[in-house]
This record gives sequence, structure tokens and C-alpha cells, in this order.
Amino acid sequence: MIIKNNITLKPFNTFGIDVNASEFVSVDSIQDLKDVLNTNPSDLLILGGGSNMLLTKDVNALVLQINLKGISVISSTENSVQVKVSAGENWHELVCWCLKENFGGLENLSLIPGNVGTAPIQNIGAYGVELKDSFISCEALDIQTKELRVFTKEDCKFGYRNSIFKQELKGQYIITSVVFELSSHQHVLKTNYGAIEAELENIGIETPTIQDISKAVISIRNSKLPDPKLIGNSGSFFKNPVISSSKFKILKSQFPLIPHYTVSEDSIKIPAAWLIDTAGFKGKTFGNYGVHAKQALVLVNYGGASGKDILKLSIQIQKAVKFIFDIDLETEVNIL
Ligand code: EPU
Repeated sequence: MIIKNNITLKPFNTFGIDVNASEFVSVDSIQDLKDVLNTNPSDLLILGGGSNMLLTKDVNALVLQINLKGISVISSTENSVQVKVSAGENWHELVCWCLKENFGGLENLSLIPGNVGTAPIQNIGAYGVELKDSFISCEALDIQTKELRVFTKEDCKFGYRNSIFKQELKGQYIITSVVFELSSHQHVLKTNYGAIEAELENIGIETPTIQDISKAVISIRNSKLPDPKLIGNSGSFFKNPVISSSKFKILKSQFPLIPHYTVSEDSIKIPAAWLIDTAGFKGKTFGNYGVHAKQALVLVNYGGASGKDILKLSIQIQKAVKFIFDIDLETEVNIL
């Protein structure tokens, strides 16, 4: 375990922003992690896959890359298995491993960037499935006491792109491993998300397997979302806002085609992508950064943009959406 000084974080964030960290260390065991914390660093930045952050300035802190590895089946019943996965495993590689073993539950979450240990923090989700649907528990290290604690699903208080680790326990724990429950036989497929059905039909599959669903999801994602290895981005930059039904009625009279999903009797979710698109930002470029041409919710760094540039664009978008629709867009990405 070597603490390096003054290194660029460009390879460690999917936006590809070039800022420096005053100190950087990668840990591949719980003991190393405890040893680093025992040096009592004055400031810490925990790094998973770096897929949900916008770095707007140099980081004057110890950047701690969680590189804990390992995937193992810890128990099984006739139709299911419990799998324990270390926090530093890449999310999509876990999904591929599950598909190879024919374990079902994560296939709709194919190709989501990031690592397993950061996935519960924002309860990652896509195509009608969220992490919480297969989540059993996670183990996390208390940064103060250096003790490991197990969090059950209830403890985690999962919500839409939300959990206790983003709220009352923010910055207090480092997730070290996650246990999932997956089906080993009689998989329950979730194909009701419109685009999946259409894609399966497109590729001529009538009775899909979990592997087919993954293929369909990969194909949909590739058609809309830029590959961070080629174009810097952090997926959805904003959350889909939830508004009251009275506000929705007013908007609907002004914008009859506004897409929406009913969340409860008095709350309606509006796709942020539609708001940004309608505000005229889709595909707009400002030199080396802009709004993705195929999905208005994704801000992109074409190479060499600064975090401040992208932050400035995000504020411009928030102001336009507020002015036109009177809706506050909240960022999904963490701004640092
Ligand atoms: N739309 C537009 N313009 C666009 C794109 C979309 O008007 O440029 C409208 C369309 O009406 C479309 C609707 O927005 O029907 C919703 O779009 P989409 O189905 O692509 O999903 P989303 O709400 O934009 C969410 C997640 C994505 C996830 C997809 C699929 C959030 C913030 N984003 O996007 O998650 O992949 O659903 O389930 O909830 C991520 O978190 O990084 C991410 C990519």
C-alpha cells in the first residue's frame, strides 16, 4: 500500500476531468483500509468507479480507491443463490459473471458504469429494475470506529436514486461488500419496460432468457448513452423531478404532450430529459463539452473540458427549466 502525492484523477472519473489529488491510495484489503484510516487523514474522498461525480477543482484530500475484489456464492436453495461481492468489483463485470452462471436478477442493470460498492449508495436503477430488488445486505466500515457493520435492506432506506448513505450517514461509512439474492432457476423476467419489449421483438426473440434481456438492454443503452471510454460522461446528470398533480395539470394545459409517470395520487414524475430537450439543449455543444445528441439527460466532455465548464452548463440548464416549466432540476451526479 503506497500513498502517492499529487496525481491526476483523469483516469479515475468517467467524465475524464483532469484535476489533481494531493494524496492517493488504492486499497485491496480491509486491513489496508483500516491502516489508511488509522493515519487519521484530515480529509477523505472515497472513490469507487468514479462514475457519478463531477470534479470541479483539485482535490485537497486523501483519495481512497476501493479496490477490494472477490465474488462468491455463500448459500443456495433450490431456486436461488446468495452471492457476496466485494466493493471494488466492476458492476457490469458482475452482471456478466451472473449471466455466465445463469443467475437472474441483475440483467436489466447491464452496462451501468461504476463499482459494486457504490451501487447501493444511489440505489442504481434502469429499465424497470433497481439494485434494491436483489439486495439482501451490505457490510460497511465505520470511518470513525473502524468497525464493520452489516446493513440490511431496511437499514439502507432505499428510494429513487437514494439511500441512507446519501442522507443521514453520508460520509460516515465505506461499503466493503454487498450480498445479493439471485434466481438460479425459474427466472422472473422483467420485460414490461416498453423499450425492452420493442428491442426483443426487433431482434426476433419471443421467449427471452436473462441473457437475451441483457443483450436487449445493452443494445438500447448503446444506442442512446455514450460510452465513457470514448466520450466522458456520468450517465444521467439530473434526477427525474417529481411534481404535484395540481402543478402537472397547469403544465399539461401548456404542453399537452408532456410525458409523465404517476408516482402516487398527488405526485407525478416528469422525465428530466424531456424538459431539457424541450428547453432546446439536446445536442448543443459548447466547444469541447455539451449535451448528448441522443439523450438530453447526459452531459458530455468531448475531451479537455473542465468540471467548471460542465457545472456552468448544468446551471444554465437548471435556470432554463425553472424559467420555462417552474421545475427545479436536482443533480444526480455528486459535484465536488
Ligand atoms: N426524452 C426526451 N428527450 C430525450 C430523451 C428522453 O424527450 O433526449 C423523454 C422521452 O419521452 C422518454 C422519456 O424522456 O420516453 C424517458 O427517457 P428514458 O426512457 O431514456 O429514461 P430517462 O428517464 O431519461 C432513466 C434513468 C436512466 C435509465 C433509464 C432507463 C434517471 C435520472 N435516469 O432515464 O439512468 O438508464 O431511465 O431505465 O432516472 C443513470 O442513472 O445514469 C441512467 C442512465
